[in-house]
Amino acid sequence: MKVTVVGAGNVGATCANVIAQKDIVNKVVLVDIKEGTSEGKSLDVWEAAPINEYSTRVVGSTNDYTQTKDSEVVVITSGLPRKPGMSRDDLIATNAGIVRSVTDSVIKYSPNAKIIVVSNPLDVMTYCAYLTAKVDSKRVFGMAGILDTARYRAFIADALNCSPKDIQGMLLGGHGDTMVPLPRYTTVAGIPLTELLPKEKIDAIIERTKNGGGEIVNLLGTSAWYAPGAAAAQMVEAIVKNENRIYPCCALLNGEYGYKGIYLGVPVMLGKNGIEKIIELKLDAAEKALLDSSANAVRQVMDVLDKQLSAVAK
Ligand code: LAC
Repeated sequence: MKVTVVGAGNVGATCANVIAQKDIVNKVVLVDIKEGTSEGKSLDVWEAAPINEYSTRVVGSTNDYTQTKDSEVVVITSGLPRKPGMSRDDLIATNAGIVRSVTDSVIKYSPNAKIIVVSNPLDVMTYCAYLTAKVDSKRVFGMAGILDTARYRAFIADALNCSPKDIQGMLLGGHGDTMVPLPRYTTVAGIPLTELLPKEKIDAIIERTKNGGGEIVNLLGTSAWYAPGAAAAQMVEAIVKNENRIYPCCALLNGEYGYKGIYLGVPVMLGKNGIEKIIELKLDAAEKALLDSSANAVRQVMDVLDKQLSAVAK
């Protein structure tokens, strides 16, 4: 089984590395436009195989999509990352062009692939890939919720001085400042979080989670890669192993949660067909209001993309 990762920057290379370490596919093809980058990083990952004990062959390709032919899953990480002071939405024009051209090439050689989008602004770039790929939306979805809940879980683990492994959390909405972490659906080894931490502490963790990407951008001058790469690899694993794992992912809603035609973070079941099911949580009025405002924020950026695409079409 073959998996392709497009973009050999920090996120793409980390994702390819984590997939290889999981030893779940025969081959990972890492594609980049910059001559030598994907080949060099792939060779480095392959040379770690004897040490870390995996058989997955990782190969690089400078923009030659014939090598990606018949991939089961394709992860698209291409695009510019954020710089300090930029919002994810500032990247829309540049990254939409990149995501469109990459998606075209991907679908040409792997018409049946499941496509996981990681490029920012995430929800809208996933929509952009969906419009370009012209395949069932169950096969085009975005990685954000696993990353955002991972940050949330890590901060809870810090607050409780416990292992992050024991923390389960759910989160809805767009991958931006309007994301909606759900304390009511967060547990620590089955114990509701709301019984373990006071509201003020949970609220502070939620705020830090919402700005989690920005916190790293401010520290590093560019966006994160270890957690985003690992999160995308976890989605790949759920698909190639047909695990039916339940994760928050960016999915096209068709009436779920009361929205239609919008890509938004919701819990989904991930298996061999991609999104096997979208799971609808019962929300209280406050949670629904937060989700509405997140959906509005995403919709506005989707409208910007729609306008840009119709200008290109004219
Ligand atoms: C982040 C970027 C990848 O949240 O969106 O770190």
